Amino acid sequence: MCGIVGYSGRAAAAPVIYGGLKRLEYRGYDSAGIATLDGGNISVAKKQGKVSSLESCAENLSGETGIGHTRWATHGKPSDTNAHPHAIGKFAVVHNGIIENYAELKARYFPDTDFLSRTDSEIIVRLLDKFYSGNLLHALKEVSSLLKGSYAVLVICADFKGFAVMKYKSPVIVGGGRGESFAASDAPALAGLCKKISILEDGDFALASASGVKIYDNNLNPAARQKIINRATAASLDLNGCAHYMQKEILESPSAAENTVKAFSRVQGKLKEVFADVARVIITGCGTAYNSGLVAKRYIESFARMPAEAEIAGEFRYKNPVITTGTAVIAISQSGETADTVEAAKLAKSLGAKVIAVTNAPYSALTLVSDVVVPVAAGHEICVAATKSYTGQIAALYLTAKLLASLNKKPAAQTMKNAKAEICAIVPLLTDTVAHTDMDALAQVCARADGVYFLGRDIDYAVALEGSLKLKEITYIQSEGYPAGELKHGTLALIDENKTAVVIITDENLAIKCENAVEQVLSRKGKVAVITNVTGCARRLKGKVPVIEIPPSPKELSPLLSAAAVQLLAYKTALILERNPDQPRNLAKSVTVE
Ligand code: AGP
Repeated sequence: MCGIVGYSGRAAAAPVIYGGLKRLEYRGYDSAGIATLDGGNISVAKKQGKVSSLESCAENLSGETGIGHTRWATHGKPSDTNAHPHAIGKFAVVHNGIIENYAELKARYFPDTDFLSRTDSEIIVRLLDKFYSGNLLHALKEVSSLLKGSYAVLVICADFKGFAVMKYKSPVIVGGGRGESFAASDAPALAGLCKKISILEDGDFALASASGVKIYDNNLNPAARQKIINRATAASLDLNGCAHYMQKEILESPSAAENTVKAFSRVQGKLKEVFADVARVIITGCGTAYNSGLVAKRYIESFARMPAEAEIAGEFRYKNPVITTGTAVIAISQSGETADTVEAAKLAKSLGAKVIAVTNAPYSALTLVSDVVVPVAAGHEICVAATKSYTGQIAALYLTAKLLASLNKKPAAQTMKNAKAEICAIVPLLTDTVAHTDMDALAQVCARADGVYFLGRDIDYAVALEGSLKLKEITYIQSEGYPAGELKHGTLALIDENKTAVVIITDENLAIKCENAVEQVLSRKGKVAVITNVTGCARRLKGKVPVIEIPPSPKELSPLLSAAAVQLLAYKTALILERNPDQPRNLAKSVTVE
């Protein structure tokens, strides 16, 4: 959702910023730009397209201070003009976020000015230019007091040998090294550049130069922010011989599960305290995180026999949720930045709920509002489509539900050691699944289909939703996830010879029922394939429809394996259709705006 990078030091700024933007491209890739400062002169290069479109023009930007941006358009279509940085007078700015009152501010302060771009961000540079009277920090403070919405903004000013930062509700990290300072939206931008980073808080400002980063709070008092290790390294971002990050990250799913199990021990004690009086759980998140929440709902209901609901975070935050005494809200987010999920967690907290974050980002906006953070230890996920983070979430949620069951002494209660061992026993099976499941033939069928329906019952339905999301996201094929039993209540009308159904069957007791759905689709001339670990089901269906067998596992842990299968299917289908699976059109990895 837009990536920003700033540098000030002794090296040429443009190449450093270009490298940082390349590593942040997962946050948006419809246009990019860099501005540098050289002896009081600001130069700008910006272009529609990916960061690589900047390569040649960035070489001509001189100066040892600069700011850069890779964009995911919110206001104003992708174009050279709407690309950031925006420069007016002595200033250039890059912005991640949305200025919700930009039209109002424009009408109030610049009624007769023709703006250069159609972006909400241009108002920031115009206001800085208007209110600046020699003190950069004061101008930033004044402008920030006028803005409504969310922003992480980097500013260069002709009078200051460095760059400035202001932050509200959009993420920004800062760091310094020997004679240089950096800022970025996320740690990978600073991989190999900065070993320690600080996360700015809402309302913070910073001035960054060759002599270091000075942080100020909202009253412009100097502020200290905790320094943490930047775990993103050049090696951790390497493709390791894979063609795409999606492939690499699917292959890393087993270690995501294993590392998440190890990391759980660190929070078990705290989680017990938070769960002490909990009698009801609401799970929230967006996209894939919501889909893993649907699996968690089943875990909590069946292991802890406790009422559990799953709510899409963007819906939850705008309703008037019923938070009774003893309600815990589990907020799931890979990035920990998703605006809807963070706001849902804040709302839940303000209404008295205990908030449990399940996240791959240990220092994020979500963790700041949570009573306890259950780590997903998947490592950096670069591909826009979530894969290994889903696996990590399932492992974390399984253990969370088992802990809740043990506290409530329910029949499914077992020692946490056993619960962890159950996941660890799946890891080799998952390694085998991601390495050897042959999805080529089915991917060919899906690539030719007009629409693909993922069907399943109970926990398989939750995975069907994830399979459908993955496929539509990276192939642009119309797809739906549906409960297998619901097919006949409407969706069957859509089935014809150009449609494909992928039926997931991992529960022996529901297999025959799901096979009915297979027959219903075949009878309407639709194509069908089945992903199953039920031996009898495979035997009955082989020869009739393509059957992809995944290893047998306890029913509740089957999403670890069946999700890997549907991820591989989406990946292979994208390759056939020559889509870029890592950077699907119109999307960005972290959705930090509404
Ligand atoms: C998943 O493939 C998507 N890219 C998307 O649905 C994602 O899961 C969603 O935006 C939530 O992101 P988060 O986990 O970082 O909060």
